[in-house]
Amino acid sequence: MPRSTISFIRRGQRVDVSNIDPKTTLLDWLRLHERSTGTKEGCAEGDCGACTVVLARERDGKLVYEPVNSCIMLLGQVDGSEVITVEDLATSQGLHKVQRAMVENHGSQCGFCTPGIVMSLFALSHAGREIIDRSAINDALAGNLCRCTGYRPIVDAAIQACSDHSPDHFDARAEKTLELFKQFRSLEDVFVGDDDSFFAAPAAESSLAFLVQKYPDATLIAGATDVGLWITKGLAPIKKLIWLGRIRALAGVEETEATISIGAGVTHETAAPYLAAIDQDFSEIAGRFGSQQVRTSGTVVGNIANGSPIGDWPPCFLILDAELELRAGLATRTLPLEDFFIAYKKQNREPGEYLRRVILKKPGAHDHIRLFKITKRRDEDISAVMSAFRITVEEGLITQARIAFGGMAGTPKRAQSAEAAIIGLPIKDIATWRAGAEGLSADFSPLSDHRASAEYRMRVARNLIIKALAEMAGVPSSSTRIVGLREDAHVAP
Ligand SMILES: Cc1cc2nc3c(=O)[nH]c(=O)nc-3n(C[C@H](O)[C@H](O)[C@H](O)COP(=O)(O)OP(=O)(O)OC[C@H]3O[C@@H](n4cnc5c(N)ncnc54)[C@H](O)[C@@H]3O)c2cc1C
Ligand code: FES
Ligand code: FES
Repeated sequence: MPRSTISFIRRGQRVDVSNIDPKTTLLDWLRLHERSTGTKEGCAEGDCGACTVVLARERDGKLVYEPVNSCIMLLGQVDGSEVITVEDLATSQGLHKVQRAMVENHGSQCGFCTPGIVMSLFALSHAGREIIDRSAINDALAGNLCRCTGYRPIVDAAIQACSDHSPDHFDARAEKTLELFKQFRSLEDVFVGDDDSFFAAPAAESSLAFLVQKYPDATLIAGATDVGLWITKGLAPIKKLIWLGRIRALAGVEETEATISIGAGVTHETAAPYLAAIDQDFSEIAGRFGSQQVRTSGTVVGNIANGSPIGDWPPCFLILDAELELRAGLATRTLPLEDFFIAYKKQNREPGEYLRRVILKKPGAHDHIRLFKITKRRDEDISAVMSAFRITVEEGLITQARIAFGGMAGTPKRAQSAEAAIIGLPIKDIATWRAGAEGLSADFSPLSDHRASAEYRMRVARNLIIKALAEMAGVPSSSTRIVGLREDAHVAP
């Protein structure tokens, strides 16, 4: 029998919730049910961070503390973790060191953003880093907007709090919390609700495959960083939800000499070091994906499955000749990623089928990678144009080219005419770069929308081809980039 409650830890006690609308968000449960109103609602779409809370979870026998946006996280997704809110930080002994630092450094004025900022810094203070510099702090706070204080006092508070490595009351009871988690490690499936309306959280992949076939009209969620917005902003009348976040078989990254395989439950945060090892531009894109809160919830495979034409990872994976593994019931099939995206909002996925993993092929010794994300802000912004390049250069000639774009068509897509236009040409010849840029006209007719006009998209895409090839040919990246310089990675003269 599956467990019929969503179960988690609050303030050292197990909480069991049943009889709940499956699409209830964690924020609504905290504010409207538990009446813990310290956590605020600002945007209700994952952008402002006012609703940030921390989930403590067990990973490889250790406790990890991760910040999440409670406005777009569904209550069912906290099953098996401890939920920590701003009310839980101070004790009878006084404020938590993060709160104290915010007070002493004048990090709060109106205070609406403050609970979320405190929770992001609380997570950072538990990240186990010896040294936390301004860049790490800026990164940790990129998903927390403050409209009145200005960030300098907040960053000063963060430096003060995170330089203090003394244990807090969460460290003191870590063993006890891990002990409490043991009751959730069981292999029982979770099914809260009935056939018409439910939140299901299978523990085994066989149960997931069964449920997805039995309820092909259910919405599958991984991190819900997309689906959460359908609920809070689109007011989607979703009644059946299947969450794959408890399935260990889908939670891993496997690496061989030639491939990296990323399971459907793997978050951006977990995948980041593996992707960074492919090339330093992968590290740059991983660091600019949403915010820390989005990266600790959202998954790499979810970014593909949603079929968005402006998702960051699909173009980056298209150039690596990625493949998808899909499963329906007991049958699995493998598909080139390229064949998954059929048209706008139409993917090669049958009802009752789900994505198991994405398999990336590592670049070869003569391959050069460049990835460029074009947005209005550096942090926490969706691409207007996303571009990815893998160019093989042997003895000065381009022998193979993979170029892919997001934001240029109804799906993420390879630029096959641009690729063909440069194969066989010398990388160092400016005419080669121009040929690539010209080739693009046959590949795309982009649309205008609120992010960018069609003309802008085409011009920037052409310029990105020239930039990528110029960098590979040896033009110093100090003349092509503001951040992420990479002088060491050029084609040998
Ligand atoms: C504030 C904010 C910032 C963001 N920034 C970025 C950004 O910088 N770049 C970017 O590309 N995106 C961004 N996103 C979008 C989103 O975070 C990503 O697309 C994310 O990777 C989605 O993963 P998820 O696990 O949350 O997907 P979910 O929301 O759980 O699911 C998304 C879709 O995929 C389906 N799905 C999920 N897993 C599977 C599976 N295994 N098999 C079949 N279908 C599945 C779901 O049914 C749904 O249709 C942002 C979102 C927010 C809220
Ligand atoms: S309320 Fe703005 S991120 Fe949740
Ligand atoms: S202190 Fe006012 S929004 Fe941050």
